Amino acid sequence: MKVIITKNYDEMSKVAAWEVAKLIKEKPDCILGLATGSTPEGMYSNLVLMNRVGQIDFSKVTSFNLDEYRGLKGDHPQSYRYFMDNKLFNHVNINKNNTFVPSGVAEDIQKECIEYDERIRNAGGIDLQVLGIGGNGHIGFNEPDSFLHMGTHLTPLTKETIEANARFFENEDEVPKEAITMGLGSIMKARKILLLANGKKKASIISKLVDGKIDTEIPASILQVHNNVIVVVDEDAAAELNLNITTNVEIVK
Ligand code: PGA
Repeated sequence: MKVIITKNYDEMSKVAAWEVAKLIKEKPDCILGLATGSTPEGMYSNLVLMNRVGQIDFSKVTSFNLDEYRGLKGDHPQSYRYFMDNKLFNHVNINKNNTFVPSGVAEDIQKECIEYDERIRNAGGIDLQVLGIGGNGHIGFNEPDSFLHMGTHLTPLTKETIEANARFFENEDEVPKEAITMGLGSIMKARKILLLANGKKKASIISKLVDGKIDTEIPASILQVHNNVIVVVDEDAAAELNLNITTNVEIVK
């Protein structure tokens, strides 16, 4: 695990965008795994700019998003399809038919999950998976639990996640209580993982991710056994890292 500590959110976003851009230049028909949430918004803005000035070309890129709320259609402003369209897809030259987000309104959720995994497999697997991290250690909506799911699945959201995401809704009652999420198997099969975190609220979980024990109650900790993970954090999120025992830390200032 390589940890890059950046000065602030803007620098984190630029470093992250550059990692994605590097891959697109090397492999124009790459498969991206994408994440929603506040954390990657700046990265997406940077990618939009890079596309606008002709630095990167999304025309052959395929993307798979991590998750979607159960019950929200793609045109609901809080759905993750809507987020992706508005933060990235509508502003770059990607073919929307090659952008996949699990359907939150599929009648047969089980079938939707199986087909989502098949689509990822048939595309050749994910080259680069972008991740945020929840304060409780979730990645995608793989919530703390006594066991981990490998494939795409329907999951209840924890109280902590519902509370954390209520800021995007009118009130907490409107936050969906379930979501479809890629499982940890799909995430771990990605050839490279780019996890982003910023702000003091993420400092504790980032230190557990990097230095803590692997624990199903901290789903992100499984990333310690992946052999190609880059964690990009700002100084606030890095505040509780023990830099003496954390190996492979690069500080970008
Ligand atoms: P955030 O969410 O980027 O809005 O902090 C991250 C997550 O819950 O995965």
